[in-house]
Amino acid sequence: MALRTVVTFPDPILKQRCAEVTDFGAELHTLLDDMADTMAKEEGIGLAANQVAVSLRVFIMDVPVGQERPDGSQDSIRLEVINPRIVGKRGEVHYDEGCLSFPGVTESVLRAAEIELAFQDRHGVAQQVTATGLVAICMQHELDHLDGITFIDRLSPLKRRVVLRDYLRDNAERIAEQDRKAKLQQRRARA
Ligand code: CO
Repeated sequence: MALRTVVTFPDPILKQRCAEVTDFGAELHTLLDDMADTMAKEEGIGLAANQVAVSLRVFIMDVPVGQERPDGSQDSIRLEVINPRIVGKRGEVHYDEGCLSFPGVTESVLRAAEIELAFQDRHGVAQQVTATGLVAICMQHELDHLDGITFIDRLSPLKRRVVLRDYLRDNAERIAEQDRKAKLQQRRARA
């Protein structure tokens, strides 16, 4: 197991549609294990593969459910999701979402309140679950990532402009550093 680097906006990989998984072998299992380590370290409740720079239709979740115990522990729903499809949805709900790829941003997003998700597990076995609450919200957020859609794309155009302007201003230094690294890598690739 190993930690991977979480990609942040505006990295172009976040805007690309991820490819279907066809090989359920060791490479996929390593990716899933690394993603679990990375998500735990970053204290996220969901993580899509393109957030660790792998453009495959894979996401994982570890969503807390029920009451926190006096010792601080809490039950959670953990799921590894490959090639997901939403096959049913009901109702609507607003929730204040954040994203590991948008440090510091929290915005209210409209989602379906309940969804039915069909997917494959790490062995390629077909699964289907019905989810509500934060689990359903997280599934929709992560599935959007696999389609190249980030949660700010779900905001009104005006709201999105304001959020984007503030984010780019607050993260200008880090983004400039990313650009420098990307350009350096391109130069190395050409050399
Ligand atoms: Co996200």
